Amino acid sequence: MIHPSADWLSKALDFPAFGIIPGTVDWQAPHETEDPITTEVDTLALLFALVRLVRPLLAVETGCGKGAGARAIGLALASLGTGKLVTCDINEAYCQKTTEICANLPMTIIRCEGKDLGPLPAADFVYIDSGLHSRGAEMALVKPGAITVIHDTNSDDIFTEVKQHFTKYVRLPGIHGPTIAWKEPK
Ligand SMILES: C[S@@+](CC[C@H](N)C(=O)[O-])C[C@H]1O[C@@H](n2cnc3c(N)ncnc32)[C@H](O)[C@@H]1O
Repeated sequence: MIHPSADWLSKALDFPAFGIIPGTVDWQAPHETEDPITTEVDTLALLFALVRLVRPLLAVETGCGKGAGARAIGLALASLGTGKLVTCDINEAYCQKTTEICANLPMTIIRCEGKDLGPLPAADFVYIDSGLHSRGAEMALVKPGAITVIHDTNSDDIFTEVKQHFTKYVRLPGIHGPTIAWKEPK
């Protein structure tokens, strides 16, 4: 017997095409390889599983890009039947693309900078994936106890910011090296 959540996970990894991430042998991301900004499939699976475990009433993503991460989080929330995602991007075309591929999922998509996203300080689950130089300001706004995934922590600069803002963290390997982090409640 296969658990029904597997159908939702399958949808979270269902895209018209995948491409090899440039400079790698077998790391794949949805969409294309010309403009490799999309979250890779293994981190999409991680996001889906973490949202199912955390069961957030409010999830926030900064930097939706073409919507892959938002879709994985939104489908995990839909599978739970509770919670909503608020995501954002500074690029109107990316907000539109995310709106298209996340139709009917429990989410709101706002064109703004992550640091200006009003619900961020209230979120129970956060995925930080905006511009490389805008993430520190977003990390500062995360509330204690919120489970946070920061993408691209294979960059030592970004991981240094993680260490400044969070008290606990697990830096995972991989092409983008996502880190799971949280601030211990005071
Ligand atoms: C790595 S991509 C996001 C990929 C996306 N999360 C996914 O799952 O595929 C980074 C995105 O952040 C956006 N961005 C850059 N600076 C930003 C900022 N200050 N606030 C919000 N979004 C920003 C870019 O337009 C780009 O779409």
